[in-house]
Amino acid sequence: MSRPTLFPLILLVMLAALTAACGKTQAVPTIAPEVIITPTPAGATAPVPATTSTPTPPSESGGQPAPEGDAWSRIQQRGSMIVGTSADYPPFEYYTQDFKIDGFDIALIKEIGQRLGVQVEVVDIAFDGLGDALALGQIDVAIAAISITPAREEVFDFSQVYFVSEDAVVAKPGANLPPITKVEDLATLRVGVQKGSVFEDWLDDLLVKTGLMPETNLFIYGDVKQAIPDLEAGRVDVLIMDRPVAELAVQEKGVQLVASGLHRELYGVVMAKGQETLRTEINQTLSEMLRTHAIDDLAKGYLHVDPGDLEPVPTPTPVPPQPLPTPTPPQGCYDGLAYVEDLNYDDQNMTNPPVLNPGEVFRKGWRVKNTGTCTWGSSYVLDFVFGNAEGARMGGQPAPVQGTVAPGQTYDIYVDLAAPVKPGVYQGFWQMRDGTGQAFGQRVYVGIRVPSQPTPTPFPTATPSTAVNFWTDQPNLVQGQCTVNHWRTQNVQAVYYYHDGQNWQDHGVVGVGDVQECPSQSINYFLRAVHPDGSVEQRAIHINVAPAVDAPQINYFVVEPPGQIGIGQCVVLRWEVLGNVNMVNIRSNDRVLWQGAPFRGSLQDCPGSPGQYNYQVEAQGPGGVSRATHLTNVVDQPLPTPTPPPSSQPIIYSFSVEPTNIAAGMCVTIGWQTGGATSYVQVLRNNQVILDGVPLAGTQQDCIPVAGQYEFVLRAIDPMGQTATATVNVQVD
Ligand code: ARG
Repeated sequence: MSRPTLFPLILLVMLAALTAACGKTQAVPTIAPEVIITPTPAGATAPVPATTSTPTPPSESGGQPAPEGDAWSRIQQRGSMIVGTSADYPPFEYYTQDFKIDGFDIALIKEIGQRLGVQVEVVDIAFDGLGDALALGQIDVAIAAISITPAREEVFDFSQVYFVSEDAVVAKPGANLPPITKVEDLATLRVGVQKGSVFEDWLDDLLVKTGLMPETNLFIYGDVKQAIPDLEAGRVDVLIMDRPVAELAVQEKGVQLVASGLHRELYGVVMAKGQETLRTEINQTLSEMLRTHAIDDLAKGYLHVDPGDLEPVPTPTPVPPQPLPTPTPPQGCYDGLAYVEDLNYDDQNMTNPPVLNPGEVFRKGWRVKNTGTCTWGSSYVLDFVFGNAEGARMGGQPAPVQGTVAPGQTYDIYVDLAAPVKPGVYQGFWQMRDGTGQAFGQRVYVGIRVPSQPTPTPFPTATPSTAVNFWTDQPNLVQGQCTVNHWRTQNVQAVYYYHDGQNWQDHGVVGVGDVQECPSQSINYFLRAVHPDGSVEQRAIHINVAPAVDAPQINYFVVEPPGQIGIGQCVVLRWEVLGNVNMVNIRSNDRVLWQGAPFRGSLQDCPGSPGQYNYQVEAQGPGGVSRATHLTNVVDQPLPTPTPPPSSQPIIYSFSVEPTNIAAGMCVTIGWQTGGATSYVQVLRNNQVILDGVPLAGTQQDCIPVAGQYEFVLRAIDPMGQTATATVNVQVD
């Protein structure tokens, strides 16, 4: 089954899969599995824990790396408490315009530090990586609007509740929605949530698993804040997030709050299990701050709530010191990364970012340290996570680790970038991920300034004598990676930019250009320049594309109804993409229907005119690009096909077993396409399940050694248990 499981289940599955597959145990579950999160400055506010506070030296090959002794004594000895956060969640934690980490949580933990007489060093870490960082002792505590849940409490210790919040539902202003007063009211809507968040689990449990909501109406995003444009475009109806985060989006992004308070959120400070002294110190300080209303003042300043309107924090029932779970020391290892220094283009903590010309190509480098206990290999990738402004990615592509990096070693890693064309100060954040796509460790950043007047340093033109320059950033790519092709021409009459298989006549361009290309196979790009005297100069770039091994998998992609529709009718596309995914795009022929689509979702398309429509889902990840397509023929007359297809029951669009007559020992091919409310598919042969929990559409081979009469049955089941079946008989001689 493809739908999301409960948080603890994800963990169990991850644990099992990881242990089995690579000997690496996700010993510490993530706070939010696979959430793609944003920024952290490399060295900004926080002295690097790697050097200041390296935890227990990581044991060679895994084992419980938890630092010896107790965290509180370490903090006292060091005189500082190292706090992990994930600075992508304003107003709780975010980067200020002047590139500092701030927010309600940050102010709170700094105040706690002050009251405890220790300095506070804040390290920005992927939300995903906070658990590992705690286990490694790279951070002493984590604060990141982390909701206390029983599943998380099994793995971490939480302080007492410091803030009571709730969910909020936002929509496009003026959206015509039914009133939302209880979770069931969301069932008929297309709802966007953040992957791995408490909200995903909540809706999945109450709506999807109970059959009230079709699975593909729960849209799962890497970062739900980045789905706001999809509200605008009408692709989802509502988004759910923590209320103060939503309120800020209302102010800043102009969305509308349509409901809140369907689900309560209690935030706590998180620490590794068994740190009783630290927990007591923090709890005492929190109690004191709650009693004297010091927390209310912070809430007033950061969350703009009147203390009177604040929901009182429940008084903690004293918890007896929890016995440490009898250590079955996990096999495997923990991932950790600490920033050490900038190797070049030092921005001096964003106080003096280096100046680059618009479009200037440069290579940024950082020295980082493997503070974990896992060895990094080529499946580890440094990837862009977010930036302070559009363009902060600077064209950078995921950079795989070259060779291996053992625990404790430092490593120099580089990314190829191009300064944005628009003047401004840019800060782009990068994050390491392991082979399973799990983000971890401290984020690093690159900061530059593009002046409004290009500085006199000339743009690096190759040979000044020629007026046509054409080059690429990366001539060698792995499938799914991209490069930027650049051209600069002077005093030419016409320029054409095209690639193998295209007619140059159709591709006239202006004299200066920078185009990102992500070819899926090796290809040539051409620049054809026509000089004023009519002479032609042609340049070519060959891009070599190696096939990808770890590309995302398209679990299913169905178009309903399949095949043919009549004019004026619509199709519904449904898809789910698994694995390490950066970006999902939905296309119809060459038109992008949805750029940055969720990992799972659905979309209706009503092609206006007759013709062939090739629908495509494209999933890009650091491991490559995967695509799946369906051709729909729109005929010039209305057809009796239902549009959109009803999703109140499972539908079987096709079921075939071919050939229907074979000799013993030969194989048949089973093919199926289901849709509607189908969430579970089985194939039975003579009443025995031979395929279980397969995707909504697919093909499989079945080889039958023994002669006889065989009945194949396809079962499409929806979450309510309603079933549709189809049967095919096969004769084996
Ligand atoms: N409260 C939600 C949860 O615990 C989301 C927290 C996200 N926090 C962040 N800093 N990104 O699942």
